[in-house]
Amino acid sequence: MKDEKVLDVTKDVKWVGILDYDIVTFDVVMETKYGTTYNSYFIDADKKAVVDTAKNRFSETYLNKIKSVCDPAAIEYIIINHTEPDHSGCLDNLLQIAPNATVVGSGNAIRYLKDILGHEFRHLQVRDGDTLSLGNKTLKFIGAPNLHWPDSIFTYLPEDRLLFTCDSFGAHFCNDLMFDDLTGEYDDAFLYYFNVILKPYSKFLIKAIEKIRPLEIDQICTGHGPILRSTWKQRVAQSEALSLEALKMREKRRVFIPFVSAYHNTAILAETIAEGIRSAGEIDVHICDIENTPFGELDAELTRASGIIVGSPIINQNIILQIYQLFALINPMRDKGKLAGAFGSYGWSGEGLKLIESNLANLKLKVVSDNMFIKFTPHKEELEKAHAYGLNFGKLLLEQEQIPETECS
Ligand code: FEO
Repeated sequence: MKDEKVLDVTKDVKWVGILDYDIVTFDVVMETKYGTTYNSYFIDADKKAVVDTAKNRFSETYLNKIKSVCDPAAIEYIIINHTEPDHSGCLDNLLQIAPNATVVGSGNAIRYLKDILGHEFRHLQVRDGDTLSLGNKTLKFIGAPNLHWPDSIFTYLPEDRLLFTCDSFGAHFCNDLMFDDLTGEYDDAFLYYFNVILKPYSKFLIKAIEKIRPLEIDQICTGHGPILRSTWKQRVAQSEALSLEALKMREKRRVFIPFVSAYHNTAILAETIAEGIRSAGEIDVHICDIENTPFGELDAELTRASGIIVGSPIINQNIILQIYQLFALINPMRDKGKLAGAFGSYGWSGEGLKLIESNLANLKLKVVSDNMFIKFTPHKEELEKAHAYGLNFGKLLLEQEQIPETECS
């Protein structure tokens, strides 16, 4: 179906974003069963402005929408709140038809865009509190870093009482009615998006929410999913509560034990190690056979964990595919310094130990030294060893200072 939809957000601000019903996986790892939208906005002020663009593969549709609302040569500013290519992907093509435009963003955003575009462009770097006159309207920029890249800002348009937040308060949810009072309920999509994208940066989201609290807002114009005109207060409050809960959870020690098991031997070790950890003191332990676990759930577990112990059998001198997928979900910026371990069962030779240990170390986790792989079936002696390993891991975790939330630079 041809997407020509343009919507009035206010009399002078139009949604010119893209509806992507067909996407099934976002950023390679994020399930998007409800599709998504790449929201872009046109501000019809004395000086015309665009806020954010869309994914590159929708350039033709996107540029047609821009042309339908203005003469692109009249666009003076393109504000890029966040440079990830789902929002900046059409920028280069837009600049070709809008040669008079100045790109506006944070210092990090301008630096990233130079690498993304591969050439110089007219730009304006803005800081927290800066304003930009559009003649009869004003843009105010709010520093909101690390949501979820170091480049992120919010943009406020006081005359229309609109706040543009890009990824924050968004969701991967596609419905062409676009406004939250028309699209129907999408709470699970909102929660999933929060958990995967924003929760690791809860401290920064709380700081950003403090900054927007005094603003007079009618609508929050997100970068993905519905425009929030009836539920923005609830979504901000929900995001704040979830962020506070996430920070509180981080205060409590929690060990995640993801494993795969071919003949239940690695599974028995996982359970015994977990018992050992619990016997060390006040520690939550979550064991998970990850053979069929959705990536989003794994990511949420990795985020919450202060310790991670990875278990695998060895097949043909290698560990299992799902373990490599798990490594891909470990985020060194978020997980750096977390205590980590390795265990498993093998038949011929024990390559798994080094394979898991080296991957965890390369991902900047702090790998303990007494990791254990056993031959075939764990019997009494191996089970005692596994319990002692868990106990020792638990004690080390209780001695270790909690990892502070990552400061991105
Ligand atoms: Fe929707 Fe972080 O890009």
